[in-house]
Amino acid sequence: MTNSENGDSQGGGLPTVWIAGGLMAVVAVVGVIFWIGFRSIDEQPAEMTMKADPANLDQVTIGAEIYRTQCAVCHGADLAGQPGWDRPPAAGPRPAPPHNETGHTWHHGDQQIFDVVKHGPGMVAGIENYDGGMPGFENDLSDDEIWAAIAFIKNSWPETIRARQHAASMGEAAVHAEHNGVVQNDETSGEHQDDQQHDH
Ligand code: HEC
Repeated sequence: MTNSENGDSQGGGLPTVWIAGGLMAVVAVVGVIFWIGFRSIDEQPAEMTMKADPANLDQVTIGAEIYRTQCAVCHGADLAGQPGWDRPPAAGPRPAPPHNETGHTWHHGDQQIFDVVKHGPGMVAGIENYDGGMPGFENDLSDDEIWAAIAFIKNSWPETIRARQHAASMGEAAVHAEHNGVVQNDETSGEHQDDQQHDH
């Protein structure tokens, strides 16, 4: 069951236990750094991604007004989107999708929704000159206003959908922290993709 010969197979006589101990120390130090980092950003680590809080009715009220003036023209006053949004368009940009529970918006974490609204779907998709049919709101809305609009959208969801989307946001935040702390995107991406083959 165990590899009893491992200790001698390293060469140089450095026992495996020292290597393991060293790795654990590194992991512990990195963990503490993250912990301190998060504490200084927000005293409530569990809620650190809740920049769009559907339970904050002040924010939701502000967001409702932003949605009505900036988003409803395409996504619908009732958040139901435009007809045909789920079919590929014959030509031109896509119809606007719904933001209610019938749509796809809640499959994204908060940060990704924010990025779509701020920079437009094309930038988020990473496609140059992509005509997503939706402008980025970078120049028209402040970050707080964008978060408020998202809070309003989240407020419209039933509790089960909110819970599932919240989980997506938390997973997203963990990946975000990883990227900020460990600048080895090539290494970490391997964890999510079984395809370990590299084209040379
Ligand atoms: C001019 C029309 C238009 C306006 C105004 C508009 N959108 Fe959109 N929006 C679209 C279209 C079209 C898409 C689909 C783009 C695509 O998938 O290529 C979209 C996609 C999105 C998505 C991604 C949904 C998903 O499931 O991935 C979000 C989130 C979104 N819009 C939020 C907003 C918010 C919030 C506002 C107001 C601040 C807004 N939009 C204003 C047309 C618009």
